Amino acid sequence: MNNSQQRIFEIRRMEFSDLKDVLRLEKEIFSDAWNEAMFSEEITKHDAFVLYSGNEIVGYICGWLLYEEYNITNVAIDPEFQKMGLGTKLVKFVIEYVAEKKCPIIFLEVRESNYAAINLYEKNGFSIVGKRKKYYKNPEEDALLMVLSVKETNER
Ligand SMILES: CC(C)(COP(=O)(O)OP(=O)(O)OC[C@H]1O[C@@H](n2cnc3c(N)ncnc32)[C@H](O)[C@@H]1OP(=O)(O)O)[C@@H](O)C(=O)NCCC(=O)NCCS
Repeated sequence: MNNSQQRIFEIRRMEFSDLKDVLRLEKEIFSDAWNEAMFSEEITKHDAFVLYSGNEIVGYICGWLLYEEYNITNVAIDPEFQKMGLGTKLVKFVIEYVAEKKCPIIFLEVRESNYAAINLYEKNGFSIVGKRKKYYKNPEEDALLMVLSVKETNER
C-alpha cells in the first residue's frame, strides 16, 4: 500500500546522492541493468531526472542532446507505482524540456517485447520507424527505434 492518491510527485535533476536508490530500482527492474558509472555519466555529461515523492525516488529518465537530436536512454518507474500515469509524467516532462531546447526530434530504442513501454511511447506521440537487430544483450533481443517530431507536437 503506497497511499499514492494522496501523494505529490515532482521531478528534479538526479544527484549523486540519489544513486543508491536509483541503482536499487534499476537492478530490480532491468535484466541488463545500468551500473553506477553509467548513471554518473548521465548526471555529469547529459540529462538525468528523478521523479520523487517526499524523500522517496519512484522513477527516473535519462537522455542525451546531440546536435539536433535528443535520445531518451533510460526510463523506469518503481513497480509499486506503475500504471498510475507516472511514466507518462516523466516522458511528457522530457518532451517539454526538449521543446524548450528547440530540438526538433526525439529518438529512443525499446525492446521489441516491451509492450508496456511501447504503449507508453505511442500514447505520447512516438512512432516506430525501424529496428536494430540484436541491439540488446541479456537476453539478446532486437530493438524497435521510435521517433517523435517535437515540432509537430508543438504545432498541434
Ligand atoms: C514502461 C514504464 C516506464 C511505464 O510506466 P507507467 O508509470 O506504468 O506508465 P503509465 O501509467 O504512465 O502508462 C501509460 C501507458 O503506458 C501503457 N502501459 C503502462 N503499463 C503497461 C502494461 N503493464 N501493459 C501494457 N501497457 C502498459 C498503457 O498504454 C498506459 O496507458 P493507459 O494507462 O491509459 O492504459 C514502466 O512500466 C516501467 O518502468 N517498466 C520497466 C522499465 C522499462 O521497461 N522502461 C522502458 C525501457 S525502453
